[in-house]
Amino acid sequence: MPALSSQPFDKQSYTSFSMVVFNKIKPVSEWVANQKKEGKSIGFVPTMGALHKGHLALVEQAGRENDLVVCSIFVNPIQFNNKEDLKKYPRTIESDLKKLDGAGCDAVFSPDAEEMYPAGHQTKTYDFGRLDKVMEGRFRQGHFNGVAIVVKKLFEIVQPHRAYFGEKDFQQLQIVRSLVTQEKLGIQVIGCPTVREAGGLALSSRNTRLTEAQRREASRIYQALVKARDMYPASPVDQIKQQISDLINASPELELEYAEIVCPDTLLPVTRSGRNTSAVACVAVHAGKVRLIDNMYLNS
Ligand code: PAJ
Repeated sequence: MPALSSQPFDKQSYTSFSMVVFNKIKPVSEWVANQKKEGKSIGFVPTMGALHKGHLALVEQAGRENDLVVCSIFVNPIQFNNKEDLKKYPRTIESDLKKLDGAGCDAVFSPDAEEMYPAGHQTKTYDFGRLDKVMEGRFRQGHFNGVAIVVKKLFEIVQPHRAYFGEKDFQQLQIVRSLVTQEKLGIQVIGCPTVREAGGLALSSRNTRLTEAQRREASRIYQALVKARDMYPASPVDQIKQQISDLINASPELELEYAEIVCPDTLLPVTRSGRNTSAVACVAVHAGKVRLIDNMYLNS
């Protein structure tokens, strides 16, 4: 395989793959347009790379539900509110491409930052009402606006029929749904279940930065969410939140940032447990310098 470095690469560089690889906007847009002219349906999976089985499950689902799958790999600088996190974000393009080819992806779009954000590019401030003010929005200022800008841009470039997002990033999924409605993009947004390690820890590109002890202890996050699901709706919401906090903070390796129990659609806090009240528990946890998020539907 040719060296990637900062050199642009294109489909000719990857003759060993059955998928095509683009790093420029125009060729990938043209490729998709030609496929659509031939009546092919397009499923799209946006990612930031460092791919794991959670990402590949999205690609596989997109493959089952569409004629062709396009995946993007782009570490979007404007959604990182923490420079250190951006710098440390794992970049593993060569193994990512192999995994995507193996998962049945048909085309990859992997631009650099200049291609996505040329000098003088327009930015926009979206209004998501409450959706981007709570939980991740409260602790990561500007994060969701950065996500919305890049997702809108990627949607315009790829123009898929369906786009696949993980429930792992529950708030992001709801924000993308809102973006598609607001901007009348006519794309079906499909939420896919969270893929977990055997011990329950949700797969995440950031897990590679955990020490062995942190990784072991991080399965408490899943255990706390399962406990919350067991307690709902019989126990009051505050008691459930306290239980989540106690279980996670009992580990010296972990520190809970927030635990919220919210309505899945509006992200409004659920104040009263109830059999007919849909609720999802969302948590953010620090394991050393690594920040982990997870969530679980409580009445499913
Ligand atoms: P990234 O973190 O790479 O995630 C890409 C997609 O994979 C997201 O939809 C995310 O929810 C999903 N995903 C991650 N871990 C998962 C797991 N364990 N199980 C199921 N799905 C999982 O999310 C982003 O990138 C970016 O914000 C992006 C949408 C690409 C915009 O830059």
